[in-house]
Amino acid sequence: MQIDKLSLRNLRNIREANLNLNKKTNVIVGENAAGKTTVLEAIDVLSRGRSFRTNKTENLVTYGEKDLYVGAATAANQKKLEIKKSRNKTQIFIDSKEEKKQSKVAERLAVQTIHPGSHAIIEGAPSERRAFIDWGLFHVEHSFKKEWSEYQKILKQRNEALKARDPNEKIWMQKLAPLGESISSLRQQYVDSLQKSLVVIQNQILPDIELSFSYENGWGTNKSLLDALKERKEADQEKGYTSCGPQNADLKIALNNKEAQKICSRGQQKLIANIMLLSQAKDFFEKKSFPSIILVDDLSAELTLEMQEKLLERLFETKSQIFLTALNDSVLAEILCEMDSGVFHVEHGEITQ
Ligand SMILES: Nc1ncnc2c1ncn2[C@@H]1O[C@H](COP(=O)(O)OP(=O)(O)OP(=O)(O)O)[C@@H](O)[C@H]1O
Ligand SMILES: [Mg+2]
Repeated sequence: MQIDKLSLRNLRNIREANLNLNKKTNVIVGENAAGKTTVLEAIDVLSRGRSFRTNKTENLVTYGEKDLYVGAATAANQKKLEIKKSRNKTQIFIDSKEEKKQSKVAERLAVQTIHPGSHAIIEGAPSERRAFIDWGLFHVEHSFKKEWSEYQKILKQRNEALKARDPNEKIWMQKLAPLGESISSLRQQYVDSLQKSLVVIQNQILPDIELSFSYENGWGTNKSLLDALKERKEADQEKGYTSCGPQNADLKIALNNKEAQKICSRGQQKLIANIMLLSQAKDFFEKKSFPSIILVDDLSAELTLEMQEKLLERLFETKSQIFLTALNDSVLAEILCEMDSGVFHVEHGEITQ
């Protein structure tokens, strides 16, 4: 859903803010340390229960306060999402009714983030790239969430059985294999379905390179998962955990046929990360018929103005509701404020519209 109203209480240096949002583009402008990123973090916390900058609630709650609050509402159908979070307690409300599962909010508020650490999707561990694929599947493929949580439960059981050298391990292995195969083929299909928009967006942003993406299932292509599990059983018993399966999968990214992770400059990594997220947003809108929310923190870091402009053009094409931060008096702020967007000035945690 798109948000029309956003309310924040006790997030970092923002004591209280109530914002009337633009349906398309919202620009948060201010000096360093004013509270710009905090506004973006609020939306992420509401959606996922944590922010792209920290997993720890105590870092987010204003010093000396017990808990933070974020609420979002749509004017059209009066939907309301809220979260109240202290160090050890989280309460979520959907239309004022308490909800236990954070994923129920995430389903409605599909948030993607582009921030100075986004290059980790290229440079970081395989888990970063799995998270990218799984974000898409969580939102567009109904069966994924259930299968993945079932898989993780069984994986835990099998790992315990391996450690204990319990013969029941075989039963868990036989349950694990078909689920793992199914998750893997969902991921493979998702990556395939993204290819079209990846190529289009890459040609618009980085036309001079060749970029390719291939999903690696985490156990090898020439055998079934069951056979791979059987083969590695003894080694896995020694280790005490299952060493192959979709929990070990990766998305291999190649730039001009070479491993992107090893050869990309920081700027290239950022651009490729942006291309991936933009393709995902485009795909999301095509499949769901409602827009995602894209939080863009500090777009200008390490990118030329020309690149920033190219990315902005593509961002607006995704149809997502976009939130961008920009420094006071920066060229980016100038460009964004001239457009038909909601502009919010932040100064020492106080926000004016
Ligand atoms: N838990 C907290 N309680 C109170 N203030 C905090 C807390 N955590 C961080 N701050 C302060 O909140 C302010 C806002 O931080 P934020 O990262 O949102 O700034 P920003 O406008 O994005 O700055 P920059 O342009 O440097 O990225 C900073 O001064 C920071 O020190
Ligand atoms: Mg910031």
